[in-house]
Amino acid sequence: MDNQQWIAAAEDFAKSELSRDTTGHDWFHTDRVRNTAALIAGMEGADVLTCTIAALLHDVADEKLNTSKEAGLLKVHNWLEQHLADEERIRHIMLIIETMSFSGGGGTPMSTLEGQCVQDADRLDALGAIGIARTMVFSGAKGRPVYDPDLTPRDESLQKEYRDYSKGTAVNHFYEKLLKLKDLMNTSYGRKLAEERHDFMLLYLEQFYKEWNQGSQKLL
Ligand code: ADP
Ligand code: NI
Repeated sequence: MDNQQWIAAAEDFAKSELSRDTTGHDWFHTDRVRNTAALIAGMEGADVLTCTIAALLHDVADEKLNTSKEAGLLKVHNWLEQHLADEERIRHIMLIIETMSFSGGGGTPMSTLEGQCVQDADRLDALGAIGIARTMVFSGAKGRPVYDPDLTPRDESLQKEYRDYSKGTAVNHFYEKLLKLKDLMNTSYGRKLAEERHDFMLLYLEQFYKEWNQGSQKLL
């Protein structure tokens, strides 16, 4: 198999595994992560092929789509063994996917440049306009409300501290995770892309609270 055939086979595998998902892990998420990972890899001088395959397969192993994390990882490993003879590349791709699935919000640091590019691309897809849409879809799928003023302090200075709030609304997720991701970026190009999306989310929240509170000074 040449590289193009190999990428096409990985695309087919990811599409067939992810096509059923409705919680933000659909094929288009994977496709965006693959494109962004390759873009960052090009800017950072990383191996684009390893980034592309790792990005295409990164959510196939997700525990939400498998009986366990281990079962998901085994499925990806078996697929790689069947499609590629390069043991070193298989080991590297597995390392990237394992670190991404076990670190979640950012526990285990990503040790290779390629892994850093793919992780940045995955985090970028949680930010900006698309990140907001995914958060709303995910929250709806879990039965969480968009917003509840009693669960998020109205006080602007508290909101700006990005404190951890344990209560589950879509708006809380911005403070729990999304607004923290910019400072967790691994690569300088990833950080640059994150800044624009971060600023857009701040603007979105400002407008959201403005609309929510419009007319709340009751005249009667
Ligand atoms: P990924 O595997 O792509 O990093 P996750 O599985 O963590 O993403 O989440 C999928 C999408 O749902 C992301 O956009 C994420 O921000 C959003 N999400 C995750 N947890 C929550 C939550 N508790 N409330 C709202 N949205 C969430
Ligand atoms: Ni992902």
